[in-house]
Amino acid sequence: MGALSVTRLVKRFAGGVVGVDDVTLTVADGAFTALVGPSGCGKTTILRCVAGLEEPTSGAVHIGGREVTWLPPRDRDVAMVFQNYALYPHLSVRENIGFPLKVRRTASDEVTRRVRQAADLLEIGALLDRKPAQLSGGQRQRVALARAIVREPALFLFDEPLSNLDAQVRAQTRAELVALHRRLGATMLYVTHDQVEAMTMAQSVAVMGGGRVLQEGAPMSLYREPASLAVARFIGSPSINTVAGRTTGTRFDGALSCEAHVPAESAAVLAVRPEALVLGPAIDAAVATVTLVEPLGPESLVRVRLASGEELVARVAGEAPWRAGDAVGVRVAAGQGLCFRAGDGSRLV
Ligand SMILES: Nc1ncnc2c1ncn2[C@@H]1O[C@H](COP(=O)(O)OP(=O)(O)OP(=O)(O)O)[C@@H](O)[C@H]1O
Ligand SMILES: [Mg+2]
Repeated sequence: MGALSVTRLVKRFAGGVVGVDDVTLTVADGAFTALVGPSGCGKTTILRCVAGLEEPTSGAVHIGGREVTWLPPRDRDVAMVFQNYALYPHLSVRENIGFPLKVRRTASDEVTRRVRQAADLLEIGALLDRKPAQLSGGQRQRVALARAIVREPALFLFDEPLSNLDAQVRAQTRAELVALHRRLGATMLYVTHDQVEAMTMAQSVAVMGGGRVLQEGAPMSLYREPASLAVARFIGSPSINTVAGRTTGTRFDGALSCEAHVPAESAAVLAVRPEALVLGPAIDAAVATVTLVEPLGPESLVRVRLASGEELVARVAGEAPWRAGDAVGVRVAAGQGLCFRAGDGSRLV
């Protein structure tokens, strides 16, 4: 029905800015894929090319097996939900949701039925007679979602749809979107620069940088086996720790040292997740000074500074027994250090 494939997509803007640089990406029929990456990496531009709001410089877009690269937006069977909702202020919620059907000259009893259905699904049935200005941010976002699903499109595109919501509403809407995806069985491409959103919602995550897809995979495989330092740094919160040094074939030596069986002897960067740093007595360990302890309830983040000046963050269970100013030993848990080539940041394995 709605598989999406983007093939060798390039978008060069007037003035020479390359927004998208040779991106190939597929979203299987009924799958939920997240597109993540830092600001300016080309996420919105890809969505706009898929929706038909932007003409690619080269490359192709197929939806449901049909090439749509040069078709106008209305012929693509795609619904896009934006960060700013883009509701019509002078129309009621009912008219906003029904708008895409009206434009397609759908019979009015059919419009009434489908608006009701979409509103029920998103639990906004009681708000149908209000204007957008009379709604909260979360309610507006739900109206925008209802307007997208009322058309029953083959493909949904989301561009940071939750970033204007406060933390609690955001977490709730996140869960609702996942449930909605399951119920509709629709294909969804979801752009965010919030990697927590990507990790918790999507079956597959594509990490972008500089107009390219750096790596795509299941959330946990990106977390455990990042192919480059850029991906390792982008996925995970707090960010992965890094220390510069050298690999010797069996070890990594730097301000932190650990066993590392990589064939190359080269300048390298060791990357260690916060939960893979072990703090304890300074025996067989690098010595660091605790700079800050952040209790989060079930766990604590302990920030330390090595003698060499590098700052690290460790995640420890429960309450941490250290205070700022304490000296503490830092080790890498066995087998948990990832090594990357110093120059291009590619993984050393
Ligand atoms: N109409 C345009 N004209 C010229 N350059 C543009 C245009 N639209 C986007 N760009 C540039 O293309 C690049 C990609 O922009 P894009 O909006 O796709 O980034 P993004 O990943 O969505 O970023 P954000 O997370 O900030 O929304 C940026 O360098 C941007 O400045
Ligand atoms: Mg964007």
